[in-house]
Amino acid sequence: MSTSERPESRPLAVVTGATGGIGREIVALLVGAGYRVTILARGEATSPGVSPGGPAWGAHVATVACDLTRMESIAQAAADIVAAGEPVMLLIHCAGVISPGQGDGLCGDGVARQIAVNLTAPILLTSRLLESMPRGGHVVFVNSMAGAMPLQGSGVYAATKFGLRGYALSLALDLRPRGIRVSSVFPGAVDTPMLRREMAEGGSVLNFVSQPAAPADVARRIVAVCRRPRREVFLPPLDGLFANLCLLLPGVLRLSLPLLTFSGRRGYRRFQKRCGPVK
Ligand SMILES: NC(=O)c1ccc[n+]([C@@H]2O[C@H](COP(=O)([O-])OP(=O)(O)OC[C@H]3O[C@@H](n4cnc5c(N)ncnc54)[C@H](OP(=O)(O)O)[C@@H]3O)[C@@H](O)[C@H]2O)c1
Repeated sequence: MSTSERPESRPLAVVTGATGGIGREIVALLVGAGYRVTILARGEATSPGVSPGGPAWGAHVATVACDLTRMESIAQAAADIVAAGEPVMLLIHCAGVISPGQGDGLCGDGVARQIAVNLTAPILLTSRLLESMPRGGHVVFVNSMAGAMPLQGSGVYAATKFGLRGYALSLALDLRPRGIRVSSVFPGAVDTPMLRREMAEGGSVLNFVSQPAAPADVARRIVAVCRRPRREVFLPPLDGLFANLCLLLPGVLRLSLPLLTFSGRRGYRRFQKRCGPVK
């Protein structure tokens, strides 16, 4: 970047979940690709002078306080961004939470939080920011393989991600006449704080059928989708084919589940050996 570059000359991207394992990498890549980024974050990240990405984010990242479980907080954050009057060229929804739990005895707070952060917040935030998004804009949802395939023991998370897939596909139809693209990216397991929390709370060993991906690799693929928009991208693509096949023919999942579970248990043991026990 030349020293004479004015920050306003960079296109604006808005990113949620930017303090997390994948989101942090996405922001660094976007800054490197020439974007100015506004992150929506809560807690410590919003304190004056704190840059969750450290020096790598430089002066091109601004923080707007937002708790995605609170509708009025989303409305206020969006209003602040709209009031700044800059076109939002890219909106990436990366925030997400998971609270594993079987069908019975679910905790009401956990259910409400997952629905709020994973589903309600991206819908509301998109809706509020669309007035600032011109032709050529792009909305990207970080979904999950659990948005395309049942995930035993994490049914609420899967429900939110299936819902998000339906919303994204419908939104793409709504926005096509306005020249705004919509993409969803469906990663398998990624080695981030979310995965470790999930496993500590009894998450599915199916996360370990393959080795969890590195957050930087997943972020690279997500930013590649920002450059060349596609409706749905599965990471890895083969797992996406399998997930979609299981939806068409549920018997395939029933038959393959014992083998997948065996392989997942082995993968999880290997992961714990390499990275230490998950607490
Ligand atoms: N890790 C995986 O195995 C995996 C696999 C497939 C898909 N994904 C998806 O990838 C995305 C990123 O996940 P990750 O693995 O990077 O998770 P992570 O490291 O736990 O990060 C989650 C992010 O969401 C933010 N967030 C959570 N609740 C929030 C709230 N109420 N208000 C504002 N922000 C909130 C967190 O902010 P705080 O720092 O304030 O908590 C953090 O920035 C999620 O949508 C997830 O569903 C993850």
